[in-house]
This record gives sequence, structure tokens and C-alpha cells, in this order.
Amino acid sequence: MMLLSVRNLTVEYHTDTGIYRAVEGLNFDLEQGKTLGLVGESGCGKTTAMMALMRLLPEAGRIISGSVILDGRDLLRMSLAELRETRWKDISMVFQGAMNALNPVRTVGSQIREAIRLHNSIPKGQTEKEIEKLLDYVGVAKSYKDRYPHQFSGGMRQRAMIAMALACQPKVLIADEPTTALDVMVQAQIMDLLSDLKSEFNFGIIIVTHDLGLIAEYCDKVLVMYGGRMVEYGDLNQIFHHTAHPYTQRLLQAFPDIENPKAELASRIGFHPRASTSIK
Ligand SMILES: Nc1ncnc2c1ncn2[C@@H]1O[C@H](COP(=O)(O)OP(=O)(O)O)[C@@H](O)[C@H]1O
Ligand SMILES: [Mg+2]
Repeated sequence: MMLLSVRNLTVEYHTDTGIYRAVEGLNFDLEQGKTLGLVGESGCGKTTAMMALMRLLPEAGRIISGSVILDGRDLLRMSLAELRETRWKDISMVFQGAMNALNPVRTVGSQIREAIRLHNSIPKGQTEKEIEKLLDYVGVAKSYKDRYPHQFSGGMRQRAMIAMALACQPKVLIADEPTTALDVMVQAQIMDLLSDLKSEFNFGIIIVTHDLGLIAEYCDKVLVMYGGRMVEYGDLNQIFHHTAHPYTQRLLQAFPDIENPKAELASRIGFHPRASTSIK
């Protein structure tokens, strides 16, 4: 059985100035232990689609149609009680920009503690051990538990966000632009961390990015969005060798070695600090 199947997902924003269709007819599948890259320029609807999956759209957002089948159950048709048992526990998300929105006057450990208390039902006496375990998973020394966000580097703050998202051992982890605010060396470390965690816990992961280089290096499947719609979807090699949509072709033109775009992209990420191609 497929871990996650999204069908015909359509989302609108209803605002004072009118109705805006941000996502239209999105379809994709995610298998356990696999990585899906969701790529597209800024404003194409990536975050909206992921927030709709989580049923965390802002006030103006409306899910017009679709289904989100996680482990055989439709998230979009769950009661709030069922949703409470599923969100964060079965499907979890690292929000875009969240690492820069940590509360500056509270220690990182206390913010992880809150995530555990809200979403997990472990006995209170075990919470401290749990925080240390989560920090260990993401490669942060446990002594940092009592430090404040400004004492963390950007990469460490993102690691802390990932720790929070892992608090309930989700089956699906969504990471929305997990490396956007980070420099290239740290980007690679965070992507390696996500990849290692995926191997260890065997969850399915969705990486949302506008960086095609990251997709080439880390993803099994690619979904390209343009203007709220899916314009390309398939295995990594298939997309790089047989692009159907002009938008994807334009993306790939940034990479000269078209015979071997994957290696070309990977080498760019590894060795050329400024060459990671952005399509923002
Ligand atoms: N709360 C909102 N109200 C109205 N429009 C919104 C809201 N959030 C996002 N949008 C619009 O929806 C579109 C998709 O945004 P978003 O999903 O954030 O794109 P992406 O994550 O790909 O950059 C954009 O045109 C954006 O302006
Ligand atoms: Mg976004």
C-alpha cells in the first residue's frame, strides 16, 4: 500500500480582493523510505499544498477538492479528534522559515519540550530524556538544551526544528525549504541529516525547495509545480532526461552537462559554493 496518496488537491484563498486558486488538481504518491522533491518558483503553491495536506491552511485558505490518503485514511475527511491523533504523529512538518521564528527568550530545550507535550503522550518523567534523545538524533549536543536560539548557529536551529518534527516518530516528514536561509556547506549538512534520518527511521519525506540541485542530489522522485499546477512528475532520471514541460526545460538549461545532469548538479553542490542553481 502507498504510504501517502494525494489526489486532485485544489486549494483557494478567499480574500477581500477576490478568490485566488493557489493549487489546482495536484496528484502525487509517496512511498515509505523514499524522498519526493517538490520544486517550483516562489509563489507557485508549494507551501499552500503542504499546509493543505496538514490541514493547517490560514484562515483565507479553502480546500476545494481532493483526498489525502495516509496509510489508507483520508486526512481531509477526518474528524478533528482523528486529526489530532494523526497530525504530528503520522505526518509532521518543518515549516518554512520556522528556524528563524524560535522564541528568543526561551531555551531551545523548553521549546522542544513543548512540542513533545503537545503532540506526544509519554510520561512526564521521561520528557527530559526524550529531549536529549531527539537532540542526539539531529546531531546537537545535549548541553545545548538549556541554551537560547541566539546561541545556536542557523544550521543548529534547523536541526532543533527537525528534532521537534520528529517528536512523535512520524511516517511522513515534510520539510518546507529546509535549507533556504543557510549557506551551501550547511545546506548539505542538513540534507545529509534528513537523508540519514530517513534511512534510520524509514519514513517518507517530502522536500520542498526552489533549488533543483538539492532535488538532483537527494530525491527519488520529482514533482515540478508551475502556477499552482503540476507540470512534471516522475522518477528523477526520467525528469532530467525527458522533460515534458517548457518550464522544466528552462530549469535544466542552467546545467551544461545535459548528458549527465545528475552528476553535474551533484558536483556543483559539493564543490562550487555559489553554483547551486536557484529558480526563485
Ligand atoms: N494567506 C494567504 N492569503 C491569500 N493568498 C495567499 C496566502 N498565502 C499564500 N497566498 C498566495 O498563494 C500563492 C502560493 O503561495 P505559496 O503556497 O506560499 O507558494 P510557494 O510556497 O510555492 O512559494 C501565492 O500567490 C501567494 O501570494
Ligand atoms: Mg513556500
